[in-house]
Amino acid sequence: MKTRLNVNVDHVATLRQARRGDEPDPVTAATQAELAGASGIVVHLREDRRHIQERDLLLLRQTVRTKLNMEMAVTDEMIEIACETLPDVVTLVPEKRQEITTEGGLDVLGDTERIAAGIEKLKSSGLFVSIFIDPDPDQLSASAQTGAHMVELHTGSYANARDETGMMMELDKIRKSTEDALSHRLRVSAGHGLNYVNVTAVSQIDGIEELNIGHSIISRAVLSGMGKAVRDMINLL
Ligand code: PXP
Repeated sequence: MKTRLNVNVDHVATLRQARRGDEPDPVTAATQAELAGASGIVVHLREDRRHIQERDLLLLRQTVRTKLNMEMAVTDEMIEIACETLPDVVTLVPEKRQEITTEGGLDVLGDTERIAAGIEKLKSSGLFVSIFIDPDPDQLSASAQTGAHMVELHTGSYANARDETGMMMELDKIRKSTEDALSHRLRVSAGHGLNYVNVTAVSQIDGIEELNIGHSIISRAVLSGMGKAVRDMINLL
């Protein structure tokens, strides 16, 4: 089966927040991603609101026609927002204020009860819950105890591997975790750091239904649109 692509539009909002203005608009970017065939839209509402704002989330809830996946930390504030907004998928991620991006998977093993309690609240509002974890057997077994419907396997170590051997080792961990997850009846997605060079090998792993990709797509969109944007401006001069 073909792997589905969900597009993360956080970095469109990052660009907008650089001027605190209203462009570029992540909601418009989401519509264009859907028109191009994306199966879902992903946004991370961070505690510090550094890119996506609550207004974006509300507008996306009203406009996304595929699936809206809200990434969030397991906090009371976020659980309340998710239960009010009702995204199609909630993905629980770790969050540190100083980090540039989500650095590792959620430590489900070290925090199983709190995460399971959060998932229970989300599920009681009818939400579908995924947890972002490292491709690690212990994190996987702990995740299976939480009541989550899905795990998103962190592909960052694979993406950052320095050589072919390292990449193969990381790919094996992702493959093994996918098998483990399926044996626990957890559905599987993956993401982080995937780009036009490294995505194919991950997309070929049986059992991974969908990939969540942001930075490389937004980066390519900026550069592939640069020539047209400049020509449009020159035409006005
Ligand atoms: N999955 C999760 C849980 C993430 O936090 C992110 C980054 O926001 C992604 C996928 C997408 O990663 P990237 O922007 O590197 O494609």
